[in-house]
Amino acid sequence: MGERFDEIYRRSLAEPEIFWAAAAERLHWDKRWDRVFDPSRAPIYSWFGGGKLNTCYNAVDRHVENGRGDQPALIYDSPVTQTQRVISYRELRDEVARFAGVLSAYGIEKGDRVLVYMPNMPEAVVGMLACARLGAIHSVVFGGFAAEELATRIDDAQPRLVLAASCGIEVDRVIPYKPLLDRAIDLSKHKPEKVLMLQRPQCRADLIAGRDVDWETAIASALPHACVSLDATDPLYILYTSGTTGVPKGVVHDNGGYAVTLHWSMEYVYNMQPGEVFWAASDIGWAVGHSYIVYAPLLYGCASVLYEGKPVGTPDAGAFWRVIEDHGVHTLFTAPTAFRAIKRDDPDAVFAKSYARNGFRALFLAGERADPDTLEWAENMLNVPVIDHWWQTESGWPMAANCLGIESLPVKHGSPTRAVPGYDVRVLNEAGQEVPRGSMGAIVVKLPLPPGCLPTLWENDEGFVSTYLSRFPGYYETADAGMQDEDGYLWIMSRTDDIINVAGHRLSTGAMEEILAAHPDVAECAVIGVSDALKGQIPIGFAVLKAGASREEAELVAELVASVRDRIGPVAAFKQAVVVDRLPKTRSGKVLRGTMRKIADSVEVRIPPTIDDPVILDEIRLSLRRIGYAR
Ligand code: COA
Ligand code: AMP
Repeated sequence: MGERFDEIYRRSLAEPEIFWAAAAERLHWDKRWDRVFDPSRAPIYSWFGGGKLNTCYNAVDRHVENGRGDQPALIYDSPVTQTQRVISYRELRDEVARFAGVLSAYGIEKGDRVLVYMPNMPEAVVGMLACARLGAIHSVVFGGFAAEELATRIDDAQPRLVLAASCGIEVDRVIPYKPLLDRAIDLSKHKPEKVLMLQRPQCRADLIAGRDVDWETAIASALPHACVSLDATDPLYILYTSGTTGVPKGVVHDNGGYAVTLHWSMEYVYNMQPGEVFWAASDIGWAVGHSYIVYAPLLYGCASVLYEGKPVGTPDAGAFWRVIEDHGVHTLFTAPTAFRAIKRDDPDAVFAKSYARNGFRALFLAGERADPDTLEWAENMLNVPVIDHWWQTESGWPMAANCLGIESLPVKHGSPTRAVPGYDVRVLNEAGQEVPRGSMGAIVVKLPLPPGCLPTLWENDEGFVSTYLSRFPGYYETADAGMQDEDGYLWIMSRTDDIINVAGHRLSTGAMEEILAAHPDVAECAVIGVSDALKGQIPIGFAVLKAGASREEAELVAELVASVRDRIGPVAAFKQAVVVDRLPKTRSGKVLRGTMRKIADSVEVRIPPTIDDPVILDEIRLSLRRIGYAR
């Protein structure tokens, strides 16, 4: 067991150029690459330099030309609007070509940025693919972020155009997007020239004359636009993700390497066949949505389910099984938190028993560690392999997985199995030396990263190098900590930075602390991520009042909660905070967040030898008990 995997993995590292060139042959290139791998700008590496292709052509037009025109490409299933729509590859090509014509009519061309602020709906995917068709660089912003976050992204990406929908729908609540967008554009220094507004019947937006254009009117007179031949190394998109500061990082993915590895992953990681139905139950605003709702399934010729709903509440905990039955889903990819939500509402899996899952083959989980309880529950209920796999916005495709398309390795609950071919994953100690198998350390990838991973940050090579490549020269720092066991299985245990994972969403506690600290009555503060049975982690704030400030705790907490919601967005799920007299610190003044987290999670705490005053820990414990933690 494992020999076939070992052989492929070994080849991927020993002969990466031959390995990835063979994978690249599966796509259409307008011009073949000059060099598979280019180390000339090390430590910034590039793949398929000199090659020319178009990702949209490979994901859409190519399939029509090869006889898949009538096959479903997108299956839109929206319980929140009671809509289902199947879009064939031919229809998708025609819609995308026409929308590319709209963008072109507004002057959008290769290299221009287009911001997309839309929920999971076909028009958003059409918008993304139309950008890819022209070589414009899209940047999708998740709807759950507040105006200020949107403004930061507008200022960094400097989009000429914004594609927006008038609203999103959260279960049964209509969330108007236009006021958020208008406020973001007010706040941003950079002003997009135009906003193309898709008016949804649930909430129509007021248009600003001269800037905002009605989507339907714009497409009415549009002419189709052909695919533009792009350099493999041209950026396809920018996706912002939380970094260690309040400023998000603009992760770039390019055209060539990304298309090659996504296509490869559909076969070798996810074990799919072209024509089958793949469903990534995520949002197009996240990395999973970019790679596994939009690009990978389409590049590979699958039908991709685009779901606008939740695992529970739209209308019940049977939603996932209903979608699997309705559309004949072969493989589902989601976050463990979705399964925890289903398990919470339907512990005996009664709903699951009332829907057929003929042809359903595997469940893949990622976005956070798959806790063994949830994993076992899913295995027992579904009777198919449940695969935990590990990746990041930066990698764009899995870094560790049980590659079902190569061979199914034994599952160890709690581990995402082994490093995927192309990734030379190591575990290092503080001094940058490799630790023995079974020992904890920083998880890194020996450079170069395989194709498809971020080549750099948007217009910020320096930031790319300092953020990811400087701490351990010669390695990419994942900012995850864990170990590799005797069998080479990886165990991803925690982050080494201030990032927490809330319902599969990556959030910076540092960014939340910046907001708390800005409150006029707060002298100092800390935000930690504590364990949560549903969301994996949730943030909790601690505020120390300024001398002389006398405030009711409940009132102040309400203000802090409101300001995080207002400035980061509801997605932060920041709902609890306590006022404390002091924060526990080391003698050198470092706040002991890790110790506070252990107290909150009721884990045994070893009093840190460097602590300034151990009594403070008891005060913290009592404060946490008041809000239901630290039992
Ligand atoms: N637009 C506006 N608001 C949004 C939003 C969007 N696109 N997405 C989420 N929100 C809001 C929610 O309404 C909620 O607001 P509230 O505090 O007023 O209730 C808040 O942001 C948090 O949302 P969410 O994280 O979705 O939590 P939830 O409690 O509504 O649902 C789960 C919990 C587990 C059902 C949900 O998180 C889920 O389905 N997760 C799947 C995981 C996933 O998609 N991960 C992506 C990576 S694979
Ligand atoms: P994101 O960039 O939002 O996809 O978040 C990436 C981070 O989520 C990783 O760095 C990990 O911390 C965490 N993560 C993703 N998948 C897993 C997994 N399978 N196991 C443990 N942690 C994971």
